[in-house]
Amino acid sequence: MADMLFIVARATNGVIAKDGDVPWQISEDLKRFKKLTIGKPMIMGRKTFEALPGVLPGRRHIVLTRQQDWQAEGAEVARSAEHAMEMVGDADCSVIGGAEIFDLFWDRATTFELTEVFEDTVGEVSMRGPADDPTWREVARESRPAADGWPPYDFVTFERVPER
Ligand SMILES: NC(=O)c1ccc[n+]([C@@H]2O[C@H](COP(=O)([O-])OP(=O)(O)OC[C@H]3O[C@@H](n4cnc5c(N)ncnc54)[C@H](OP(=O)(O)O)[C@@H]3O)[C@@H](O)[C@H]2O)c1
Repeated sequence: MADMLFIVARATNGVIAKDGDVPWQISEDLKRFKKLTIGKPMIMGRKTFEALPGVLPGRRHIVLTRQQDWQAEGAEVARSAEHAMEMVGDADCSVIGGAEIFDLFWDRATTFELTEVFEDTVGEVSMRGPADDPTWREVARESRPAADGWPPYDFVTFERVPER
C-alpha cells in the first residue's frame, strides 16, 4: 500500500484552527509543510481549501465536499473518502485536514507528522492527537524553543504500530 501522510499543527489542548485559519504562522513549520507535501497529491476538506492563501504549487489539491455545484480553480472535487482514494490511485499522498477529514481517513493513514505546539489555544476547531491512540507510536521528536512571538513546539513523527 502507498503511504498516506497526515500533517497537522495542533495545540496541547487539541485546537487546530482559530478565526478560520491555522493559529500559528511559524516559518520553519511552513517550510516543513512544503517539504513534506511537495510533489504528492494533497487531500483536504472544502473548509481547509478555502482557508489556504491560494493554490499551492507543485501539488494536486483533492477537495472533499458534499455540495454538488462547488468548484474552485486548482481544486479537484471528491465526493467521498473512496472517491478521493480512487483519484490518488497508487501514489503516496498527504492529508492536510481539517478535523473532519483527519477523522475520515484516521484508520488509513500510515504516518503522522505532528507539530505539537505547547500552548492551550482558544479556537473553534480541535481534534484528537496520535498520542491518544495506541495504534500510533512515536518514532522521532525534535524540539524548538519559543521564538518570534510563537510558543515552543516539537516536530513529532508517529508511525502505525505493526499489527500482530
Ligand atoms: N492546524 C492545522 O494544521 C490545520 C490543518 C488543516 C486545517 N486547519 C484549519 O481547520 C479549519 C477547517 O477544519 P474543519 O474541520 O472545520 O473543516 P474541513 O475538514 O477542512 O472541511 C470540512 C468540509 O469537508 C467536507 N466533507 C467532510 N466530510 C466529508 C465527506 N465524508 N464527504 C464529502 N465531503 C466531506 C464538507 O464540505 P461541504 O461543507 O462543502 O460539503 C465539510 O464541511 C480551517 O480553519 C483550517 O485553517 C488547520
